[in-house]
Amino acid sequence: MNAPVRLAVRGLTKRFGGLVAVRDLSFAIRAGEILGLIGPNGSGKSTVMKLIMGIERPNMGTVQLDGVDISRWPSHRVARAGIGIVFQRSRPLRRQTVLENIKLAFLPDSLWQLVAEPSVDAKARCIAERVGLGAVMNRNPATLPFGDLRRLEMAKAIARHPKVVPTTSGSQSPAITGNQNDVRYSQPPEKDKKSTVPAKKE
Ligand SMILES: Nc1ncnc2c1ncn2[C@@H]1O[C@H](COP(=O)(O)OP(=O)(O)OP(=O)(O)O)[C@@H](O)[C@H]1O
Ligand SMILES: [Mg+2]
Repeated sequence: MNAPVRLAVRGLTKRFGGLVAVRDLSFAIRAGEILGLIGPNGSGKSTVMKLIMGIERPNMGTVQLDGVDISRWPSHRVARAGIGIVFQRSRPLRRQTVLENIKLAFLPDSLWQLVAEPSVDAKARCIAERVGLGAVMNRNPATLPFGDLRRLEMAKAIARHPKVVPTTSGSQSPAITGNQNDVRYSQPPEKDKKSTVPAKKE
């Protein structure tokens, strides 16, 4: 693939006290690529995603987004730069519908943007359809099966127009998606997985 490198991770290391959760991890993904990290429970997959998102600080190594080192940025700045993590645990607002949960992701993060955008409803419906929640968008998240809750988290990430989507999940392959102008939510078929990095248990 000839697209430029979107996300470059080099020599990433994270220690929790004496435990080395991530040791000297390097990879790069280009726009449109999907990279899977596989490994047993506790091997460091979620920690990698948190390091990319700025939720955890690496002891060593760098994370570059479009050539800019973001590895010591706070997570809100990382989010604005275009990384939209999908957490392992789904935490929807339980009194709101699926559609309302997606709409929340469109809330402005600046007082200067407080005028509500009239197209938010249409955009949120479009994203719900795209991730396969079209038939359940007026339901309460508490009534959804696990797979649909994962789709809801992905829908919320897509609404922020991310460039890269670190996705972490216990029972599905964690994947990092570097996208051009489009994010698809589907388990990539084996042939579409550009590379798979086994996460090592230290
Ligand atoms: N905040 C923390 N403080 C201390 N240890 C931590 C912390 N976060 C993770 N760890 C430890 O780091 C290791 C890697 O954890 P991590 O959650 O990244 O694994 P994982 O590959 O995502 O596992 P799973 O497949 O169960 O989701 C584990 O031993 C875990 O207990
Ligand atoms: Mg995990």
